[in-house]
Amino acid sequence: MKEIIKNKGSVYCSSNNWGSLNNKIKEVNPSKIFILVDTNTEKDCLPLFFKKYSFNESVEILEIPDGEINKNINTCSLLWNKLSENGADRNSLIINLGGGVVTDLGGFIASTFKRGVFFINIPTTLLSMVDASVGGKNGVDLGLLKNQIGTINNPEMVLIDTDFLKTLPENQIISGYAEMLKHGLIHSREYWDKVKSFDILKIDELENLIWESVLIKNDVITKDPFEKNLRKTLNYGHTLGHAIESYSLDQNKFPTLLHGEAIAIGMILTSYISFKQLDFPEQTLSDISHHIIKKFNKALFNIEDINAVIELLKFDKKNYNGKVLFVLLNDIGNHKLNCEVSNSLIFEAFEYYKKL
Ligand code: GLY
Repeated sequence: MKEIIKNKGSVYCSSNNWGSLNNKIKEVNPSKIFILVDTNTEKDCLPLFFKKYSFNESVEILEIPDGEINKNINTCSLLWNKLSENGADRNSLIINLGGGVVTDLGGFIASTFKRGVFFINIPTTLLSMVDASVGGKNGVDLGLLKNQIGTINNPEMVLIDTDFLKTLPENQIISGYAEMLKHGLIHSREYWDKVKSFDILKIDELENLIWESVLIKNDVITKDPFEKNLRKTLNYGHTLGHAIESYSLDQNKFPTLLHGEAIAIGMILTSYISFKQLDFPEQTLSDISHHIIKKFNKALFNIEDINAVIELLKFDKKNYNGKVLFVLLNDIGNHKLNCEVSNSLIFEAFEYYKKL
């Protein structure tokens, strides 16, 4: 069992020992237990969950439709009503069993219902294991704008079990891989090289690498839980990536991208900007770009698409007084926060991406 123990937000990783969940439920002693799933995890993960853990008490299942498009306040209203109708009180516990949408939205409804009830995250996607479920950020989208409404509030615990990854389609594994590559870029060349050379589809061998990513993220969020400075580095590639993701959700003529697919593009663009604006080495830019292009589908952006993406940047949560502020890199593992970037350089970065 791998573990990070904290007052709140402890993280455990194990596929054969769920004693940590048992201990936490005993400690919390909830009045009622709810399990939040989406249509996918109800079918693919809930049976495995019940194989691994049996409750002494009855539990209520709350189900939402899958997909980022449902991560909104309407879904929250439905869930708040269901909690209320089913007699949830302040000592209730919500177990979020799912990917980033379920853990983000479930964490938000738990943090706000009756001003906060207990919640536990059990991530079932790679993306959620290495990023979304850890660190206490939760919330929903506002229209198509990502994560505009939310709180920072840690779950009672996070339990990572890589057996859930066996239920995932390959594109979801690749999507989560983007966040691990990001951890490499912001942390160290050593971790970047390790993640880069790992065959991500070897799920049985993935646990140690996931844990290294969790340790990197944990180090950052422990130093800066409320994103005053250092935590912004976890947004590397996300300023453009989130805008690209929002744009892709809104357009019939543009393919809908998974979060990690959009972030992968954002990391190439941002590495190019880092090269042009700072001293980021050209050879490293080339290494990053070619590795990402090899692993992720390429998207085609025309001028209209790029203008729309740039327009969406004004909603980025790191903006200050109307200024869009990027996290750039001087080199792998060496960041620079709060960088302004001209639109012409953003266009140039898209041009570089197009030629890859
Ligand atoms: N996903 C970025 C963060 O947790 O800060």
